[in-house]
Amino acid sequence: MCGIVGYIGKNNAVPILLDGLRSLEYRGYDSAGVYVQGVGCIKSVGVIDNLEAKIPNEYNGVAGIGHTRWATHGEPSEHNAHPQSDESGRVFVVHNGIIENYREISQLLTEEGHTFSSETDTEVIAHLVEKFLNDGKNFKDAVVEMLKCIKGAYGIAVACKDKPDELIVARMGSPLVIGLSLDEYFIASDPSALLRHTRDIIYLNDGDIAVVGSAGHRVFTLKEENVDRKISRIDWDFETVKKDGYAHFMLKEIMEAPTVIENSMRGRLLVEQGSVKLGGIQDISEDLRSIKNVVIVGCGSAYYAGLVGRMMIEELAGIPTVVELGSEFRYKKSVIEPRTLVIAVSQSGETADTLEAVREAKRKGALTIGIVNTIGSTIARETNAGVYNHAGPEVSVASTKAFISQLVVFALLATFLGRQRDLSLMAGKQIVTEIANLPEKIMRILSSREDIKEIALRFSHYQNFFFIGRKYNYPIAMEGSLKLKEISYIHAEGCGAGELKHGSIALITPDFPTMAICLQDSVYEKMISNVQEINARKGPIVIMTSEDTDVSFLTSDVIRIPHVHEILSPILSVIPLQLFAYYCSVARGLDVDRPRNLAKSVTVE
Ligand code: F6R
Repeated sequence: MCGIVGYIGKNNAVPILLDGLRSLEYRGYDSAGVYVQGVGCIKSVGVIDNLEAKIPNEYNGVAGIGHTRWATHGEPSEHNAHPQSDESGRVFVVHNGIIENYREISQLLTEEGHTFSSETDTEVIAHLVEKFLNDGKNFKDAVVEMLKCIKGAYGIAVACKDKPDELIVARMGSPLVIGLSLDEYFIASDPSALLRHTRDIIYLNDGDIAVVGSAGHRVFTLKEENVDRKISRIDWDFETVKKDGYAHFMLKEIMEAPTVIENSMRGRLLVEQGSVKLGGIQDISEDLRSIKNVVIVGCGSAYYAGLVGRMMIEELAGIPTVVELGSEFRYKKSVIEPRTLVIAVSQSGETADTLEAVREAKRKGALTIGIVNTIGSTIARETNAGVYNHAGPEVSVASTKAFISQLVVFALLATFLGRQRDLSLMAGKQIVTEIANLPEKIMRILSSREDIKEIALRFSHYQNFFFIGRKYNYPIAMEGSLKLKEISYIHAEGCGAGELKHGSIALITPDFPTMAICLQDSVYEKMISNVQEINARKGPIVIMTSEDTDVSFLTSDVIRIPHVHEILSPILSVIPLQLFAYYCSVARGLDVDRPRNLAKSVTVE
């Protein structure tokens, strides 16, 4: 989604802003722009290269703001791109989020004589600041007055011609960080945009306003009360977000799966005790002992991870669990009992729908924990406790390694909750030992990727696909279909294999293939019957099965994965589906890492 960068210091802001914008490209955008104090504003539609091409050599200065825009209000165009400004070009603003009352404000300002030149909700911010400057307020006070007028979600950075040695930022519902270095400040909506310059970061909270510039920095609230935000040190490296020689981030991130699992379980397995240690929930461990039900919330892939997590928790811990889409949770009546645990699953930790579900759950008195990958993100900070995935930064828009780490964390959490209840030592030991063996099994799957590629090349021309599975692999069928849809633009549906005959099987023809997950588990025989139903209707089939299982009577397109405990099988079975989607996308010549219309971090509801 939209990205914000800013710089104020002693160096030329232009390369710093462009570099920061480039590192936010992966979030998805359709236009970009920069404003540099003293030299003005430049914007363009399309990629950052288009913007850079428009910047003349003499365009430089020591303070500025920049933005990548993912259109919400108004088409992608130069006049809708940010920075937005008032008519006189005195105030410039970049904004992530949505100003909900912008229509009312623009109507009032229009009556007062303002003329708007864009279709964006953002432009009212610049006009309001200018109005308060005209009323005689200084830059800071004008921004504070403007913030009192707007409603909605925002991360904003504002620059004013009258005050070239200051930038002002504010956050409400959309992430924003300040990077600090000697005599210079960096601003970004995502810390990865600052890593080249500094590792010392201040994470702003909702309601924070900050002034940065030659006089240092100050963080305060709308009531003008100073707040003390500590400086956090980022310990992950920029190198980890480079492609490492792979053609795409997505392939690199799939190939990282064994390391990701090792990182997710490092120091957490207690093999002899058949249990796990999760530092982030240690403080609430006694509360967890008495919870009566669990509600898992997430969106997209995180929701599918939640569906697997539900089965793990019910099977290992016997706690009734439901899974809700973040976007549905707060708009329906959700039953939150006094001892309900709400688990929010989110790679970015910034997904607005999931975040609002957490806030709603807290309002209703639930205990909340986060399964979050991005350290210091809003969901990580707002939940009562949490378990970090430790998957490292995920750059490709389609989630792969983060999804795998979510499943691993669910397996750890379910084992922990189970051992607090009826799960036996032996059963606990078996799960923990199997978790420890996952990286080696995944390496075996990854080493067969050329076989998966070959199948993908033969199937990438189809326009439709079913993915079917049962029990633990039903959510994986849905995740496999989501992966294929989002990066290869092939229409795909994930179905419970037993459901096909209740309607969807009508679609099966020789032009409508199916990917069937038929592992040697408790539902193998049932799966094979369902595949036979497809076979009888001449639908092409790819079968994913366990090593040593003969399915040649059904198809010659077979993907094999190692045997594993049924509960953990999704952690293996999703990998060939990620690779399959990847190779289909490459075969179709698409932009794998930045699929159309999608954003990495979805910070609007
Ligand atoms: C799919 C994908 C999305 C995200 C969803 C939630 O590949 O990446 O479906 O899973 O937008 O995002 P997070 O996990 O950041 O809350």
